[in-house]
Amino acid sequence: MSRPELAPEVDRFYTQVIDESVRLSMSADGRLELLRTQEILRRFLPAPPAHVLDVGGGAGVHAQWLVKDGYHVDLIDPIVRHVELAATVCSAALGDARALEKADASYDVVQLLGPLYHLPDPADRQQALREARRVVRRGGLVAAAAINRYASLFEHVALAHLQTERLQLSIASILRTAVHDGKRGFTLAYFHRAEELANELRDAGFIDVRVFGVEGPAWSLLKAVEQSGSEPREELFQSVLTAARMAEPYPELLAASSHLLAVGKAP
Ligand SMILES: C[S@@+](CC[C@H](N)C(=O)[O-])C[C@H]1O[C@@H](n2cnc3c(N)ncnc32)[C@H](O)[C@@H]1O
Repeated sequence: MSRPELAPEVDRFYTQVIDESVRLSMSADGRLELLRTQEILRRFLPAPPAHVLDVGGGAGVHAQWLVKDGYHVDLIDPIVRHVELAATVCSAALGDARALEKADASYDVVQLLGPLYHLPDPADRQQALREARRVVRRGGLVAAAAINRYASLFEHVALAHLQTERLQLSIASILRTAVHDGKRGFTLAYFHRAEELANELRDAGFIDVRVFGVEGPAWSLLKAVEQSGSEPREELFQSVLTAARMAEPYPELLAASSHLLAVGKAP
């Protein structure tokens, strides 16, 4: 397909600023995000071989372990260099979550681990989730990631940035509006509350919706240690990981995680 219409801030960020192929291995909280995303998804994935559509799959970091686990993965992403990198892992093509060029009911699993937080307009997010609903088979799984509404507050306190007025104003604006405009730092992004994410999946027709805190309540400790120039001790990493697992039964702790991961079923 031709290149999808993408907000210029999102295009620039993924084309020129960040290297998605190493984001989940370069930092301790990235490694935590990868490990927890894997362990949560593996609880819900059907047994391999099954067909997974990885929408906004980036450079194919999740596709890689899914292929290794025995799944057939097709990946779509609107960024050319992501598609080129992902094509070394699985079948990959340019595409947009809001208009999937896939047949109805053609996948066992559709995952959107990224697109929802780059679509600040609720109508676009709903369109992306309805497209997922259309292409997943009856009884199939959808998994959708979001960035938590409060993640930037925890992140910037860990980075010791909050004493500057510019950052205070910027974070206060994200907390108030749920949107970062993408003019500085991170790109254009929408920040979800857990209940809001669950409701968006239900509105798109999914049932049995559950939301998990990916990194749990203590991830920002890892960031704080890295910011001070040290590698977090393995014992600290394991404690933060254990906290994420122990927090799962307590929905009030979802607010402290960096990412949220919702799963649901197509009726
Ligand atoms: C933070 S990356 C996540 C990549 C990968 N899914 C992961 O979890 O590591 C967000 C991804 O969403 C993609 N994306 C942004 N807008 C999108 C859209 N409208 N449709 C599909 N993907 C989109 C970006 O190109 C990027 O690859």
